[in-house]
Amino acid sequence: MFFKTFAILAFGALSTAASLPHRRSSESDVVLYCYGSTSNGGPIFYADGLAYFGMSANTLDAGVSTNISFTLDPDDTTTAWTIQPNTTTNPNVSFNETLDMYIVPTDGSFTQVGFASSNSSSLPTGAVTTGFSFFGTNVAYVESSSNYDMMFWGNATTTDGIFALYWNDGSDDAPNGSFAVTVKTTPPVSI
Ligand SMILES: *[C@@H]1O[C@H](CO)[C@@H](O)[C@H](O)[C@H]1NC(C)=O
Ligand SMILES: *[C@@H]1O[C@H](CO)[C@@H](O)[C@H](O)[C@H]1NC(C)=O
Ligand SMILES: *[C@@H]1O[C@H](CO)[C@@H](O)[C@H](O)[C@H]1NC(C)=O
Ligand SMILES: *[C@@H]1O[C@H](CO)[C@@H](O)[C@H](O)[C@H]1NC(C)=O
Ligand SMILES: *[C@@H]1O[C@H](CO)[C@@H](O)[C@H](O)[C@H]1NC(C)=O
Ligand SMILES: *[C@@H]1O[C@H](CO)[C@@H](O)[C@H](O)[C@H]1NC(C)=O
Ligand SMILES: *[C@@H]1O[C@H](CO)[C@@H](O)[C@H](O)[C@H]1NC(C)=O
Repeated sequence: MFFKTFAILAFGALSTAASLPHRRSSESDVVLYCYGSTSNGGPIFYADGLAYFGMSANTLDAGVSTNISFTLDPDDTTTAWTIQPNTTTNPNVSFNETLDMYIVPTDGSFTQVGFASSNSSSLPTGAVTTGFSFFGTNVAYVESSSNYDMMFWGNATTTDGIFALYWNDGSDDAPNGSFAVTVKTTPPVSI
């Protein structure tokens, strides 16, 4: 319940101040960054089909992990947001199929954000690969024209400074230590 309210409050609070970026078509090479309320941004990366973000250069123990960029159309919520490996930082990684970002926007669920072929049977129950847009500068899931949900959360991993990216749809059992994040295209200020 709190999170639904948050989305509506955020709408009220931001709608006067934020000018929606006006873009007309698909954009590629878009890097997305997660920001906690007190932390600098870290880029979203791919590891074994799931989404993580890093506030440090530590690496996750994973089979295939890579920096990624997105191809997305902010004006068309029927289009999936696909990812590509960064061939500069990860020249040896390629994906053998088109991978779409998914979230599980099921009421009460706390599920890690991931990437899958929309053809595949590996999408978790309730997952969606479309409906994404921006609310101001924040990535949102457009539940309806008046309800832009921003329920991205971070949860610690066993690697210091690396967090798993979750969608928290008002779950009562978000783990201790997990925290709300916003997802933006804005790169962090370098420190
Ligand atoms: C790939 O990573 C490099 C180094 O971080 C960065 O400069 C470049 O913009 C990235 N390219 C894409 C397409 O994400
Ligand atoms: C992403 O690129 C940076 C260098 O810009 C590198 O330190 C880091 O290990 C890369 N992350 C992954 C998951 O490959
Ligand atoms: C990519 O693969 C080549 C050949 O196996 C290897 O020499 C190189 O170190 C690898 N590069 C990275 C960034 O892992
Ligand atoms: C891509 O590779 C994955 C993992 O090896 C496999 O499960 C999947 O079927 C492959 N997809 C295609 C289109 O070959
Ligand atoms: C889905 O499968 C079809 C047929 O195998 C293939 O042509 C298409 O590219 C696939 N789409 C994605 C998004 O991988
Ligand atoms: C969240 O992080 C904590 C600490 O690393 C871990 O014990 C817990 O399993 C994680 N929760 C989920 C849902 O992954
Ligand atoms: C979370 O932390 C609070 C306060 O330390 C504690 O009472 C509660 O049992 C913890 N919950 C979980 C699921 O660990």
